[in-house]
Amino acid sequence: MKTTAFDLSRWSSQQLARVEQALSDWVAAGGVVDDEHPAPAALREGMRYAVLDGGKRLRPLLVLAAREAVATGEAATATAGLDDAALRAACSAELIHAYSLVHDDMPCMDNDILRRGKPTVHVQFGEAQALLAGDALQALAFELLTPEGSEAPASVQATLCRLLAQAAGYQGMAGGQAIDLASIGLALSEDQLRCMHRLKTGALLQGSVMMGAACKQGALSATAHAALRDYGAALGLAFQVVDDILDVTSDAATLGKTVGKDAAQDKPTYVSLLGLERSTAYAQELLAQALAALDASDLPNTQALRALADMVVNRSS
Ligand code: IPE
Ligand code: IPE
Ligand code: MG
Ligand code: MG
Ligand code: MG
Repeated sequence: MKTTAFDLSRWSSQQLARVEQALSDWVAAGGVVDDEHPAPAALREGMRYAVLDGGKRLRPLLVLAAREAVATGEAATATAGLDDAALRAACSAELIHAYSLVHDDMPCMDNDILRRGKPTVHVQFGEAQALLAGDALQALAFELLTPEGSEAPASVQATLCRLLAQAAGYQGMAGGQAIDLASIGLALSEDQLRCMHRLKTGALLQGSVMMGAACKQGALSATAHAALRDYGAALGLAFQVVDDILDVTSDAATLGKTVGKDAAQDKPTYVSLLGLERSTAYAQELLAQALAALDASDLPNTQALRALADMVVNRSS
């Protein structure tokens, strides 16, 4: 199936209207926050600054695209609860991502001053507030997945929590970030680099896909599960390969973050290992793998997932 017939920008704006509204409602501003015990104002400000007004929102879009791919043949009575669970999962993935960026930018990690076109959270609010904003965003992500009185089955909520925890923790993003910091100045093998990228970035992207797929009535077929897992793995790795490329080829105005940092900090990247040309070819190879995984699935509605994979690899920011 071709991706060109599908209007990704139209689909994305429809989805993002819901996501942006939900994030604004839920991130330390009423909603899940008890009005009688509001978060301290400075912490709330740091959290909202980190999450709102910026970012491509790729992880939420992946959750919602995967939900769409599996949402066939369900009872009408199940749909509202599962759609709500998917919107919550979409926001929770973005909260984990936003928290990972806040910490990634801190002086003890990448020491960056620009993110999403704005001063980084620690530059704006101080290091302690940045640390706490990240902590609080991580906790909020799990709170969002388990609302009181949810119409989604408890088993779906539990699966979402497990998938997000695995994607964020030591087998996922945090583990990959630890490898990243331990690898400064080292010449990693291609296997080691792939492993680092799969964990630090790929795990949350793949986890987003699997969370969307978990918002389903009944079990997913083994074929569809494997297809989405393989799609998420290829796309997740491709995303960081392209991030490595853009750090060399793009500029701060386009990316909204500092460029040239990887070489300046002596980080092993795909560009440092393979060079630009082979890295670009590898990203295209991973795109082909992601699309082939969907071809091998028995899922009827994968246009959004296909278009997102294409966007990840062919993006300029
Ligand atoms: C940047 O992620 C950090 C990585 C995991 C490579 P994004 O490029 O998705 O950042 P935003 O969300 O669009 O700001
Ligand atoms: C970050 O990788 C991955 C995260 C888990 C945040 P990078 O350090 O390359 O991300 P950027 O380039 O700062 O966005
Ligand atoms: Mg980093
Ligand atoms: Mg960084
Ligand atoms: Mg980078």
